[in-house]
Amino acid sequence: MTQSVYKSVQKGRVLVAAIDFGTTYSGYAFSFRTDFENDPTKIYANTTWESGSLQSLKTPTCVLLKSDKTFHSFGYDAENKYSELANDELHEDWYFFRRFKMLLHGEKLLNRTVLIQDESGKKSLPARTVFAHGIRFLKSCLLKELKTRGLDEILKEDEEIHWVLTVPAIWNDSAKQFMREAAEEAGILMHNLSLALEPEAAALYCKVLPMERLEQGSSSNLSAFKPGMRYMILDLGGGTVDVTVQEVLEDNNLRELHKASGGAWGGTYVDSAFLQVIIKLVGNPVIQKFKTSCMADDLELTREFEIKKRTAGTQQNQKTTFKVPVALSEIFEEEYDGETLKESVQQSRYSGMLSWIGDKLRVNQSIVQEFFKHSFESIVEHIETLLNLKQCKGVDTLIMVGGYSECKMLQDTIKQTFSSKRVIIPMEAGLAVVKGAVLFGHNPNVIVSRMTKFSYGVESTRDFEEGDSNDKRFIKYGRAKCKDSFSKHVTLNTSVPVGDPLEPQYYRPLDKDQTEVVVPIFISTKENPRYTTDADCQYLGKVEIKLSETPDSDEEKDIEVKMTFGGTELYVEAKEVHSNKPCTAKFDFLSHHGD
Ligand SMILES: Nc1ncnc2c1ncn2[C@@H]1O[C@H](COP(=O)(O)OP(=O)(O)OP(=O)(O)O)[C@@H](O)[C@H]1O
Ligand SMILES: *[C@@H]1O[C@H](CO)[C@@H](O)[C@H](O)[C@H]1NC(C)=O
Ligand SMILES: *[C@@H]1O[C@H](CO)[C@@H](O)[C@H](O)[C@H]1NC(C)=O
Ligand SMILES: *[C@@H]1O[C@H](CO)[C@@H](O)[C@H](O)[C@H]1NC(C)=O
Ligand SMILES: *[C@@H]1O[C@H](CO)[C@@H](O)[C@H](O)[C@H]1NC(C)=O
Ligand SMILES: *[C@@H]1O[C@H](CO)[C@@H](O)[C@H](O)[C@H]1NC(C)=O
Ligand SMILES: *[C@@H]1O[C@H](CO)[C@@H](O)[C@H](O)[C@H]1NC(C)=O
Ligand SMILES: *[C@@H]1O[C@H](CO)[C@@H](O)[C@H](O)[C@H]1NC(C)=O
Ligand SMILES: [Mg+2]
Repeated sequence: MTQSVYKSVQKGRVLVAAIDFGTTYSGYAFSFRTDFENDPTKIYANTTWESGSLQSLKTPTCVLLKSDKTFHSFGYDAENKYSELANDELHEDWYFFRRFKMLLHGEKLLNRTVLIQDESGKKSLPARTVFAHGIRFLKSCLLKELKTRGLDEILKEDEEIHWVLTVPAIWNDSAKQFMREAAEEAGILMHNLSLALEPEAAALYCKVLPMERLEQGSSSNLSAFKPGMRYMILDLGGGTVDVTVQEVLEDNNLRELHKASGGAWGGTYVDSAFLQVIIKLVGNPVIQKFKTSCMADDLELTREFEIKKRTAGTQQNQKTTFKVPVALSEIFEEEYDGETLKESVQQSRYSGMLSWIGDKLRVNQSIVQEFFKHSFESIVEHIETLLNLKQCKGVDTLIMVGGYSECKMLQDTIKQTFSSKRVIIPMEAGLAVVKGAVLFGHNPNVIVSRMTKFSYGVESTRDFEEGDSNDKRFIKYGRAKCKDSFSKHVTLNTSVPVGDPLEPQYYRPLDKDQTEVVVPIFISTKENPRYTTDADCQYLGKVEIKLSETPDSDEEKDIEVKMTFGGTELYVEAKEVHSNKPCTAKFDFLSHHGD
């Protein structure tokens, strides 16, 4: 992958199509170049997904595969079909996956072959294939929609479409490459795809919206984004809370003031707090039995909570009633010899605040607030930390986007805690990311610089210096050398321009008869890491280079390594200096050291 990938994004395509592949919900949007030039807010997004009881602007991110592992359905269709199968006890051989995006932001070691378990927990498939199924579905939906609108005739086949896929800004380079390869498996070729960072995309959308559509009650039709304005944009999603801080420059372009940050405190965090309370009431064995033997009921419970949590906390001092499948209390009574849930609740710490009768769970408002508490606290604490940083001085506006930002209690919490700031929640906050991603595809150069999250460097061997650790010392061709040296290309927390590679660095292969070089790339959380083996360093990936067959001298083997940081993805280029031919270099951030 080389610079040319980056350049290809910049020349305008006729149509830009964006896919927001979310943790909980996914959607797509597109717009034509000509529309973008006349009125950038003219973006088409499908907001009418067949849902039944639940209204949403996107469709749930879930994939259903048949027993032969071929695609069956995605979204509400997949949920409903699987539910139906489960009711008839025919679901055993099918594969149902949901909420799997968080896999790419977790503890789990990521590689190309990593597997994910399906909902039953008994079967698993390669994660990349499951992602690819989802992306392929959304892509085909979009193409189908172009066709039904007769718009496909404007396009000369596929080649006029540029695709944009959104990823959380806090993802690391390995996770981004994983997503890119999944898109490739779904038939979106490398050169026709760019990755947009979710909060940035949302910022681009808010920037083109006039005040009247950005803030309720405002009648100004000017943009709120004036030069000099500094703001924090919070993408409050289902999985992650993803934050970036930007400034509007004199020329109306944007620059990042602080590196993207955040955590896994999104809407599903609230869901699991709810589940935790249920588990406390009935015990883990009962929940496990319920999940395996009553799959359809389990889905029903999830959906019920999803609906109820949207209105929770909007009416003061009231109780919220959740419909809980009777199967759960039946299993409980079976398991505990006729003891009823009602009695069990009375003996628990929730006594008086919660009642469970039949299929109704009535919950006191104070408990409902507890479901949200930890998520809110994490978000507030994170914003406070950011606002106190030197780089974030002058930030006076907080923009909340993403589905979770529709949560009234969260809105109130943010507004009250940060009462000196202006808090903006655009209309259709849940679609800001996908619509913004379309704008990003048309003009990625609006964002002119970004901040590095790590120090990046190459593991190399250099001459041994005084002060170097002795266990790094070895002798090669009569000289004292130092191994595992961190040869830094860029320092963390620095602003790097978009598009231009940094000053190249040069390396000479250690062995005279080497025909292949592997350049190992490391990241570090320190400003000046010394050795790649230090605790703060981590292996990121490698670039492989084939050398010319006939080198005449040492110099002719020199390799130039260039890294480009400012983009949404890291690009590494390497070439042999003397032949000046780009090597068949390929970078790989998904392998492990020594692979
Ligand atoms: N009114 C509401 N009150 C509370 N939560 C809400 C409300 N509306 C949506 N949510 C929650 O917002 C989340 C969905 O937001 P969104 O669609 O932005 O997430 P996503 O894009 O799927 O996730 P991510 O961006 O983390 O990958 C869900 O957890 C949903 O329950
Ligand atoms: C949105 O997409 C769904 C699924 O492809 C489709 O059924 C629906 O008709 C679309 N809505 C519109 C308005 O095109
Ligand atoms: C990136 O994140 C994934 C998922 O959390 C993790 O497995 C991987 O080790 C991380 N890679 C690096 C280089 O930090
Ligand atoms: C990929 O990672 C998983 C664990 O996440 C591990 O079991 C598997 O062996 C790894 N595969 C390769 C090829 O490294
Ligand atoms: C990708 O773009 C190339 C041109 O850069 C074009 O030839 C090809 O058909 C496109 N493919 C897809 C799937 O869009
Ligand atoms: C809205 O924009 C029009 C021109 O596009 C301008 O004439 C008008 O004064 C603006 N109204 C407000 C309230 O800014
Ligand atoms: C909720 O519980 C608290 C005690 O924790 C009690 O004071 C309050 O009255 C209860 N509210 C309702 C609506 O029952
Ligand atoms: C980089 O910035 C973070 C805050 O975002 C800070 O905690 C850290 O100390 C900084 N590191 C250096 C080396 O400046
Ligand atoms: Mg999202």
